[in-house]
Amino acid sequence: MSEWLDKIGAAPSLTALDELRVAALGKSGAITARLKSLGAMDAETRTREAPAIHAEREAVTAAIAERKAALEAAELERRLATERLDLSLPAATTPRGTIHPVAQVMDELTEIFADLGFAVAEGPEIEDEWHNFTALNMPEAHPARAMQDTFYVAPGSGSGAGGDTGRVLRTHTSPVQIRTMMAGSPPIRIIAPGRVYRSDSDATHTPMFHQIEGLVIDRAIHMGHLKWTLETFLKAFFERDDVVLRLRPSYFPFTEPSAEVDVGWSMEKGRRVVGGCEGWMEVLGSGMVHPRVIAACGLDPEEWQGFAFGTGVDRLAMLKYGMDDLRAFFDGDLRWLKHYGFGFLDVPTLSGGVGA
Ligand code: PHE
Repeated sequence: MSEWLDKIGAAPSLTALDELRVAALGKSGAITARLKSLGAMDAETRTREAPAIHAEREAVTAAIAERKAALEAAELERRLATERLDLSLPAATTPRGTIHPVAQVMDELTEIFADLGFAVAEGPEIEDEWHNFTALNMPEAHPARAMQDTFYVAPGSGSGAGGDTGRVLRTHTSPVQIRTMMAGSPPIRIIAPGRVYRSDSDATHTPMFHQIEGLVIDRAIHMGHLKWTLETFLKAFFERDDVVLRLRPSYFPFTEPSAEVDVGWSMEKGRRVVGGCEGWMEVLGSGMVHPRVIAACGLDPEEWQGFAFGTGVDRLAMLKYGMDDLRAFFDGDLRWLKHYGFGFLDVPTLSGGVGA
C-alpha cells in the first residue's frame, strides 16, 4: 500500500497522476482486481481480508485527491507568475497610425452640425437613377444630367439600391435628401457625409471624392435660415469670426432659388487663408428645396419647405489645412499621412476647438 502512496505523492504531473489512478483504481486496476477477488473467497477469509482492501482503496483515493489539488495549485501559481502584466509600464511602441484629414474633417463637421441639432443620415454609394436624378427634378434626357460626369453601373452587376431604373455610382450626396424625406416625416434636419463619384481627374478633381449634404425641411423655412446656418457652420469650421459669405444666384435643378456660396480670403504669411475679403472662392452649392422634389417624396410643398446645401469635404480640408493637391489625399503615401494626419486623441470637440 505504501508503494502506491509514495508514487502518488511523487507524481510529477496531472497526467502522470491520472495514469496512476487508472493503474490502481481503474476497471482493470490492481486494487480493483483485489476488490473483485473478495467475491471468490469463503466468508471467513473475506471477513479477514476485506477491511484492509477497502482501507487501501480509501487511502489511495484520498491521496490522489490531495495530490491533484496540490498539482493544480502549483499550475495556477505558475500561470499567474508567467501571465503577470505590469499595467504601469509605458507602451512598448509609440502609435504609428494617423487619422486621415478627410476623416478628421468629417468628424469636425458632424460635431458642428450635431450642436445645431442635425442628425447624420446615410445612403448607398451605388444608387439608382431615380434617387440620383429623377426625384431631384432631373427627368431622363434633362440636360442637367450632363452637368455631372456619371459612372453608370452595367445592368445586372453589383449590389446596392434596387429599383427598376438603371444604377449609377452616386454623383452627389443629394439622393440622401430623397431617401430621408421618404423614410421619415418633417421636421427634418440632417447632414449626409459620404463618398461620391464622377469621371473627372486633375489636381483638384479625383474620380472619387467626399461631399456633405445638409437638409432642413419644416414650416416657414426661408433663405435667411440657410444663410445663418452656413455662416454659423463656416465660422465654427474655420475657427474665425471674420469669415465673410457671398451668396451668388446660381442654378441647380433641385433647388429654387439656388445660390452658390463664396467665402472671402486674404493673404496671411504669403498664404491664402479663409477670412476677410481680398478675394472670393466658391465653397458650396445651396438653395431652397424645389417644390417638385418635395412632391416627389410624397410631401405637400404648400405645407413643407426647406433648404439644402452640398459641399466638398476634401476641398474644405484643403482650405483649412493648406494642402494644394487633391490627388495626394488618396495616394496612401505614409509620409503625407504622417505630415497631414491627426493623432487618434485629436477628437474634434466644440469646447476644445474643432481644429484639433
Ligand atoms: N448636389 C450639388 C452638387 O453636387 C450640390 C448641392 C446640394 C446644391 C444641395 C444645392 C443643394 O453640385
